[in-house]
This record gives sequence, structure tokens and C-alpha cells, in this order.
Amino acid sequence: MNKLALITGGTKGIGKAVAFRLASEGYDLLLTYSSDNIAAQKCSDEIQSAHKNKVHLLQADATDLSSIYIITEFLNENQFKLDTLILNAGLTNRSSFEEMKIEDWKTVFDANIHFPVFLIQSLLHHLKSGASIVFTGSLMGIFPHSVSLVYGVTKSSVHALVKNLVKFLKPYHVRVNGVAPGFVDTEWQKTKPAEIRKNIENKLAEERFCTPEELTDAYMLLINNTYMNGEILIIDGGYSYK
Ligand SMILES: NC(=O)c1ccc[n+]([C@@H]2O[C@H](COP(=O)([O-])OP(=O)(O)OC[C@H]3O[C@@H](n4cnc5c(N)ncnc54)[C@H](OP(=O)(O)O)[C@@H]3O)[C@@H](O)[C@H]2O)c1
Repeated sequence: MNKLALITGGTKGIGKAVAFRLASEGYDLLLTYSSDNIAAQKCSDEIQSAHKNKVHLLQADATDLSSIYIITEFLNENQFKLDTLILNAGLTNRSSFEEMKIEDWKTVFDANIHFPVFLIQSLLHHLKSGASIVFTGSLMGIFPHSVSLVYGVTKSSVHALVKNLVKFLKPYHVRVNGVAPGFVDTEWQKTKPAEIRKNIENKLAEERFCTPEELTDAYMLLINNTYMNGEILIIDGGYSYK
């Protein structure tokens, strides 16, 4: 029987690249997404035609905490246990500080912090002994974000969560780590104006955005290295805050 990995936000961008990589290494996949059914089906078809692995899709919006129940029920019904959990779905809100509404602030916290915490709590008995959890953090959780206060604060919290969870997951023999990507060429970044993208590239030693595929070695290292626990791996192309 193949290993099984659950990836939240696994149908596009970074999550999709990690899904492809895990499939190439023999994993079956459970991929969640929020709303784009067509992209989700396309992602599943592409993986299955390339690697023949089983791919399960589940619409589970991380801003709606009842999605935790949907995921847990799916695992219960199928009697699935997870080898790997990638907590990748994330949200931002670019309202100015002056105009930020408390509801919008809370929504970002729900998706980036509350959802993963209570998903892990709900999945404690669905994680195999020796399982590995990897969060997608962000370089903007280390350096202050220039636009979105709530994004920077929640991604810093993701990194703190990784370190704090180590002790609480030890009794279950589950390791937890995170990847902090810099600027990755996904839909998330492609919508930025050319001028802003150029400003970002000027701060990077590599002078370009990362491809999602360039991150997958980091996820695999954290999944496979059984001595890595509570680690945040930064992959930023030599970013300089200037
Ligand atoms: N791109 C970057 O430069 C960058 C840098 C650092 C960290 N990150 C982090 O990397 C993660 C993925 O970003 P990405 O750039 O790969 O994004 P992306 O290409 O836009 O892909 C987002 C994926 O997450 C799903 N998703 C979005 N909102 C969701 C929600 N509320 N609930 C469940 N799933 C949701 C999307 O599903 P639908 O298509 O159905 O919406 C899609 O599968 C995020 O946590 C982000 O903060 C990104």
C-alpha cells in the first residue's frame, strides 16, 4: 500500500508542485482546495496520468473551520492514516492598516493559524507514528511585510507554531517543520504589477522569482530526515532587506 499525504491548498502553485513530487516518490494524495473545481480536477488528472497514483480531491475552505470536520470525516470513512501532512493553504489581506476590518483580520487568522492548529488536533489519531508535518511559512514571517500586517504576523505565528508544536506532537511520534519561501512564481505573485516584481527581483541575489518546483527538495528533506524537528527552512534566493 502506498504512503498517503494530505496537502492543503494542493491543487495549484507550491502545493501542486509538492503534490507532483510526492506522487513521483510513490505517495497517494489527498489534495484540498477552496473553490476552483476545474483547476483541482486538472491537477488530479495531470498527476494521475504522469504517476498513476491515487489522488483524492476535497473542497475544504480553510477560512471555514467546519472544513476540518469534512477532512476528518473523509479520513474516517476511508479508514485512511496519514504519513505526511502539508499545511500549505494560506491567505493574505492587502487592506491598508487604516482600513483593515476586524472581520478580515480574523479571516486571515482563521485560515493561516486556527485552521491548521485545529486540523492537527482533529487528525492526531489519523497521523501514523513517525509521520511528518510540514507548514508553508514565509520569508515575510521573518522580515516585516511591506503591505499586509496580518500576513506578516500570521506567517511569524506559523513559524512560532512549528517550534511550539514539537513538544505537543512528541507523544504521537510526529515531527513538525516548516518551509519559509521567499518569492515564488505562482498565481499569487503573477498578478503583481511588473514594476513591483522588478523591485522584488532587485532585492534577490538570484535576480528572479523561485519556481514552485525549486522548493520541493526542501519539503522532501523535512519529510524524510527523521532528525529534523521544529526547523524552518528559508529558501529565498539570497534576499536582502533593502
Ligand atoms: N507565492 C509566494 O511567493 C509565496 C511565498 C511565501 C509563502 N507562500 C505561501 O505558500 C502557500 C501557497 O501559496 P501559492 O503561491 O502556491 O498560492 P496559489 O498558487 O494561489 O495556490 C493556492 C492553493 O491554495 C488553495 N487555497 C487558496 N485559498 C484557500 C483556502 N481558503 N482554503 C483552502 N485552500 C485554499 C487554492 O485553491 P483554489 O484554487 O480553489 O482557490 C490553491 O490550491 C500560501 O500559504 C502562501 O502564503 C507563497
